[in-house]
Amino acid sequence: QEMYRIAVLPGDGIGVEIVPEAVKALKAIAEKFGHEFVFTEALVGGAAYDAVGHPLPDETLELCQNSDAVLLGAIGGPKWDDLPVHLRPEVGALLPLRKELGLFANLRPCMLFPGLIHASTLKEEVIEGVDILVVRELTGGLYFGEKTREKTADGGQKATDVLSYSTYEIERVVRFAYEAARKRRKKLCSVDKANVLESSRLWRETVTELAKEYPDVETVHMYVDNCAMQLIRNPKQFDVIVTENMFGDILTDEASMLTGSIGMLPSASIGGEVGLYEPAHGSAPDIAGQKKANPLATILSAAMMLRYSFHLEEEARTIENAVRQVLIEGYRTPDLMEPGKILVNTVEMGDKVAEKIREAK
Ligand code: NAD
Ligand code: IPM
Ligand code: MN
Repeated sequence: QEMYRIAVLPGDGIGVEIVPEAVKALKAIAEKFGHEFVFTEALVGGAAYDAVGHPLPDETLELCQNSDAVLLGAIGGPKWDDLPVHLRPEVGALLPLRKELGLFANLRPCMLFPGLIHASTLKEEVIEGVDILVVRELTGGLYFGEKTREKTADGGQKATDVLSYSTYEIERVVRFAYEAARKRRKKLCSVDKANVLESSRLWRETVTELAKEYPDVETVHMYVDNCAMQLIRNPKQFDVIVTENMFGDILTDEASMLTGSIGMLPSASIGGEVGLYEPAHGSAPDIAGQKKANPLATILSAAMMLRYSFHLEEEARTIENAVRQVLIEGYRTPDLMEPGKILVNTVEMGDKVAEKIREAK
């Protein structure tokens, strides 16, 4: 294949600043390797609500469904927080987009890049060599369970969110995690709360059953509270972590600090025909519009797109090596800044990466 159609959804806040930097990297790749990437931009999130009254317009969903992959920035922000829930960017756009595209597996690799060992708030000896792949279930659990709200007799209210998983939903994501572990260090840690939750008991039983098919992979079960602690105490014990939707959401923000910044954590959402690639972080309203955002998580998400959707492994590595090189040379956005390094803004960081891609052998 020579031509690839990429839907580009910048979204809100820093989304509009970081996505162009990832597109820049992809354009440098296209030029270098002789591919044709066709980028089509569309509105999503608060930006789409403001323009057309809905955070996920039909045209945007259709564009995504008719593309080879989707590159997304981030959505949401204080301006849209008080909208009725179905119009909120997060619930009205991001969740349906993931669901409609069938993206049940969210891969979030937490890797410490050389040169960033002192950017983290954690000790050098704790994080040196960290390389974890979190596989987060993305289309089930609390996010998609039934929600209710009702008034109670005492004048207050009652609200519920249902956490449910089927064997099928657990099996497909856990199987994916096992296959990934097989290609790595052959260790799988399944994270649940089986001491309390029924859905977690089914999760654990299902993993235990599947483990028999993967005798070459070491399987460990861990409660989510312990996992939150172990990630900081000794992150190097982990290879692949697999867990349900919300546990994975929370644990990956935590794990991002092993890499120095949430601005370093990319993600790939796969499982359907069209993959979605977005940084793990949000729209960062506190720094939006100031060119302070770190674009590397989005640029690394573009690398994941090349790897998982287009099977362009060498091209993916070229982006990752360019990022490594730029960091080794000391370029830093404010979130990674430390004494003796070279402070750059979002655009300058993107330019440096594109330059390294063009210079790559
Ligand atoms: P956030 O990830 O946007 O920001 C948390 C903190 O990390 C902020 O201090 C921010 O400045 C910083 N940060 C995040 N990305 C950064 C980057 N690339 N470079 C430098 N610093 C960065 O989380 P939040 O503040 O809890 O949420 C803000 C909004 O984003 C909310 O509306 C939330 O719902 C939404 N959100 C969207 C996504 C998504 O689109 N996938 C993900 C998470 C949050
Ligand atoms: C993420 C975000 C989303 C999630 C929100 C914005 C719906 O936090 O991508 O991690 O919780 O999945
Ligand atoms: Mn999150």
